[in-house]
Amino acid sequence: MITRRTAVAAAAGLGLVLSLAAAGPALADDPIVIKFSHVVAPGTPKGRGADKFKELAEKYTNGKVTVEVYPNSQLYKDKEELEALQLGAVQMLAPSLAKFGPLGVKDFEVFDLPYIFPNYGALHRVTKGPIGKELFEKLADKGITGLAYWDNGFKIMSANSPLHMPDDFLGLKMRIQSSKVLEAEMNDLGAVPQVMAFSEVYQALQTGVVDGTENPPSNMYTQKMNEVQKHATISNHGYLGYAVIVNKKFWDGLPDDIRGELTKAMDEATDYANGIAKEENDKALEAMKAAGTTEFHEMTDDERAAWVTALKPVRDQMSDRIGADLIKKVEYAAGSS
Ligand code: LMR
Repeated sequence: MITRRTAVAAAAGLGLVLSLAAAGPALADDPIVIKFSHVVAPGTPKGRGADKFKELAEKYTNGKVTVEVYPNSQLYKDKEELEALQLGAVQMLAPSLAKFGPLGVKDFEVFDLPYIFPNYGALHRVTKGPIGKELFEKLADKGITGLAYWDNGFKIMSANSPLHMPDDFLGLKMRIQSSKVLEAEMNDLGAVPQVMAFSEVYQALQTGVVDGTENPPSNMYTQKMNEVQKHATISNHGYLGYAVIVNKKFWDGLPDDIRGELTKAMDEATDYANGIAKEENDKALEAMKAAGTTEFHEMTDDERAAWVTALKPVRDQMSDRIGADLIKKVEYAAGSS
C-alpha cells in the first residue's frame, strides 16, 4: 500500500536521483547546451540574430544542441561576459567590436574610427573579406574562435542639449564603450568620455551621471534612452557592430557533424541578422521621432564638414595602437582613404 510517508520517501529518492543525474557526467543523448549571452534587448538586430541562431541550430541538429539565449545583460555585463566565455561559463557571445581592447586585442577598434565606413557596403568589404578573417585569427590565443560579423548600424549622438557643432560637446560627460578610439573621438570633440557597461547607461543618463552618449537608433530605442535624452543628431559618424564568438575549446571539441550543422545555422543567422539591421534601425528612429521625447537634428553640410575636421586627427592618434597598416588596409577596402 502506498502511504503518504512512502510516497514522500519515493519522491525524495527520485529527487536525489535527478539531482545526481544533473550533477553527473553528461549522458550520450543529453543535448549539448550552448549558453549565448548578450547585453541588448531581444528586439534588436543582435537579439533577433541570436534567436534565429537558436531556432536554426536546434532544427539542424535535431535537438542534439540546445541554445539558451540570455539577453539584456541578464547573465553577464560587458566585461564579465568575455571573462565568462574564456572560463567556459558561457559558450557564445556577440560583443560589439569596440569591446575587445580589455582582452588585449586592440585591432578591432579600427571599426570605431570615425567616418571610416561610408555605408554598409564598405563595411562588408572588410568584414566579409580577408581583413575580417585575419582579425578573427588574433582571437585564437585568447581561447576564442570568431564565427561571424553581425551588423548593427551607424551611431547617432545624443544629449540633453543640442549637438550641432563640435563646440557643443565642450565639457559634456559622454558615455562610451571601452574602446580607446571612442575615447579619442570624444576628447577631440572636447567632451569628457566615460566608459560604462551598456546595462548602466539608461540610469546614468536619467540621473545625470553622464550627459549623453552615442548608439545606433535600435539600441537607443530599445533601452528607452530617448526618454532621457532631449536632443540627438543624426550624425552617422561611426559604426557599431559585433563579432559572434565561441569558446575555442568547446567549439573544437564538438563532433564534426554537429559543428558542421552549427556553422550552417550561424551562416544563415548571419544573413538574417545582417539583412534586418538597417531596417530595424530605420524603424527605431521613426518610432523615437513619433514618441516625441527627443528632438532629432539632421546635419547641414557645414556641420558635417566641421565634425569631419574635428574628428580627423583620431586616425593618426590611434595608428600606433591599432597599426597604421591595418588602418590603411581598411581605408582602402572601404574606399574611405
Ligand atoms: C554598447 O555598449 O553601447 C553596445 O555595445 C551594446 C551592444 O551590444 O550593442
